[in-house]
Parts: sequence; structure tokens; C-alpha cells
Amino acid sequence: MDIVLGLQWGDEGKGKFIDLISEDYDIVARFNGGANAGHSIERKGKRITLKSLPSGIFIEGIQNVIGTGMVVDPVNFKQEVLNLKSFDESIQVEEYVVISQKAHLVLPVYKLMDIFMEENPFYTTVGTTKNGIGPTYANKALRQNVRVGDMYASDFKARVHHILEREYNLLISYGQTLPPFETMEEEFFDAVDFLKRFKFIDSEMFLNNSLSGGKKILAEGAQAAMLDIDHGTYPHVTSSTTLSAGACSGLGISPKKVGEIYGVTKAYCTRVGNGIFPTEIFDELGGEIRSRGNEFGSNTGRPRRIGWLDLPALKYAVMINGVTQLVLTKADILSGLRSVAVCTHYESDGKKTEMISGLFSNDQVRSVLKWMKGWSTDISDLKESSHLPAELIDFLTFLEKELAIPVSYLSTGPGREQIIKMH
Ligand code: IMP
Repeated sequence: MDIVLGLQWGDEGKGKFIDLISEDYDIVARFNGGANAGHSIERKGKRITLKSLPSGIFIEGIQNVIGTGMVVDPVNFKQEVLNLKSFDESIQVEEYVVISQKAHLVLPVYKLMDIFMEENPFYTTVGTTKNGIGPTYANKALRQNVRVGDMYASDFKARVHHILEREYNLLISYGQTLPPFETMEEEFFDAVDFLKRFKFIDSEMFLNNSLSGGKKILAEGAQAAMLDIDHGTYPHVTSSTTLSAGACSGLGISPKKVGEIYGVTKAYCTRVGNGIFPTEIFDELGGEIRSRGNEFGSNTGRPRRIGWLDLPALKYAVMINGVTQLVLTKADILSGLRSVAVCTHYESDGKKTEMISGLFSNDQVRSVLKWMKGWSTDISDLKESSHLPAELIDFLTFLEKELAIPVSYLSTGPGREQIIKMH
């Protein structure tokens, strides 16, 4: 099994890369998160954002798995499937997507709870996508939730009703104005009926049997290393394990079966939501990179914060994931800048440090930048690494030396064909 992961704060361009390399695999399996993800893929000049569906969906014959570590929101999932069908009616979604029986369900009250926690001053504002991801994983850990496989249990409706009522009343007791209970419940059960068009499987058995039978699996990570619940910039993180270890636990596959681990990073940094971001650019250059790179949340539309490439954070992400190959995206967005910066380390309390994941805010840390000559050539149509401008080659060589892994792919634009295999 090979793995593709984001190494920053998400939105690195994993979807495009997975769509591209999934041709070499039999199965693409998502292992964490849910509708909080936004994996954008371009097809025939049109763009679609996948949320819960794995990014192998566009390649005929690939089996896509929604793994055990994911959380499935029936209402959102139904909408996503319908959108995909109207985007490309030839895609046999029901045939090529299977869902783990053990994946947890996102209930509508969890979304309401997410919104409430984000907006109530008694809670830490994380800047979530408000998809109910945190409350779902929390209820999973509390052992109070229902799973995909429960949908066929005779008491499923009663159990869901009980949870909906409990959380709904809790929110009402906090003085919240909520949508009508009956409408919310009805919409959920309608979506559950829709979800039943899909096959629910014991995904760990399916995946391990497939591996034994010689099939190739690509595990698709959502969110990214710095948003990991344990090793990210807590508390401004997501609620799942976004790392390579999460691929093993979320899919039920032994670490011994892992081969390549592709880490995807932009040539600069972005993040949506709150939290520490030492290399953040506050002047107009940040705004320029944002508009050139169309850096607006593909899920929520929020403007992304922009920063220079953060090498200590990247080194950390490479280390905790065991990344073997780097995929660099969006270097084309920096084309034309006279110079580009990379943060080599931070200073905190007057001391040099390379760790941010334990810190809470930008005030605690100052990033130290190394400036490099920018590249003026437009690289978006280049197909050969030998045609790349010398300054970009210097940038890539610097990264390879610092990270001690090869830059194997360089993405040169959003299009499917805009990628150069470097080695
Ligand atoms: P949640 O996952 O919706 O709970 O949001 C927690 C944090 O993760 C917030 O800062 C979100 O903006 C961020 N986040 C979640 N999913 C993604 C993603 O796919 N890309 C980028 N950021 C994300």
C-alpha cells in the first residue's frame, strides 16, 4: 500500500495528484475525515471538489473505499453524489464506491453542535468547516455514536432519534435557535435511504484480501500533518489522525505493508481557520499570492491565510509521516516574483527553535527567512524538468538537501496534464 498525504495545513493539491497516479492502482481508500475535505479535481476543463468520495472516482475500474477511520454524513454524501452525477453522468458511483461498516455517521445535531461551539465564547474557536467533524469523533470516542453498519439494525431509527433528541435539547437549553427537529430528522433518514444504494463492507478484510491477491492500494489522506489531532498545531487542528499511521489504523492495514509515502506540499504555505502560522505574510504580497493561487477554501470559500514555505514544519511532517517522495505544487504561482523566501528556523524567547506544534500563537515565535532568487519564466506549459528555470531548480535542490528526500513530482498548474515527473 502506498500513501498520499498533505504535509502542511491542507489544500496542498492532493486530489489532483491522486487522480493522476491512481491509474497505477486498483483501489483508492480514504482513511480519515469526512466532508471537511475538499479535494479539487479538474476534468475536461471543469472543476469539481470531492469531499467524502475518494479521488480515484474518475478512473474507470478503480474501487474506491470509504474507510473505517472516516466519518460519513449521509445528507452531505447524498448531495455530493448527486453533484458528481450532474458533473459527469457516466460515472458509476454506486458501483465503484464501497463503504466501511465501521465508519461513523455524522448526525445533523453534530453539525449544529459544531456551529454552536464555534460561535459561543465559552469554547475555543477553532475555525472549523462546521461539518460536525469534531462532535462526531468526540461521540465516537465517548462510545455514544452510531456507525454505518448500524443502519440495518432494527432499532437504528430509535437510537438515532434518541441521540438527536438529546443533543437538540441540550442546544435548546443553551438558548440556541435551531431548525425544526422533524425536518432535520426526516432529511437525515431520507439520506440514509439514499446511502443504502451503496455496498457496506468489512473494509479491512476487503483491503487485506486485495493486498494478498496482488492488488495495489493507494491510501488517500485528508487534511494534513499540521492539522493532525496529536501532532498538529493543537487546538487548531482537525479531530482525526491525518498521518501515515492513520492510514494503517483507519484502514486496518499493517505498517509492514506500506511502501511509498508521497507527501504533498505547496511551494508556499496556506491555512484556513485559526491557529499559529509563523510564516504568514500580512502585506499586499500575501493578497497577490492569494488571488493568483485562487486561495479560497474549496469547501467553505473562506480566504486562505498565506505564508512562506515553512521548512521546520515541513521537516517535522516528513519525519512523523516517514515521507519517501515529495510532490511540490503551485511553484507556478510564485513565477515572476523577484525573490522568494523559505523559513529555515524560528526564534522563540530569543532562542533558535524548529518546533511550533507545542506553541499556541504567532506572538510566541518569529520566523527566520532565507531569501532566494525567484524564477521569472512561466512554467505552466513546461513538460520536461530540463526546461525548468535555474532558480527553480536551485529552490528544489535546496529543499531536497534540507529534507533528505527527492522532489519526485512538480505540479505546474491545476490541469491534469500539468505535472512534471522529476526523477
Ligand atoms: P474541522 O476538520 O472541520 O473540525 O476543522 C478543523 C480545522 O481543520 C480548521 O482549521 C479547518 O479549516 C481545517 N480543515 C479541515 N479540513 C480541511 C481541509 O480539507 N483543508 C484545509 N483545512 C481543513
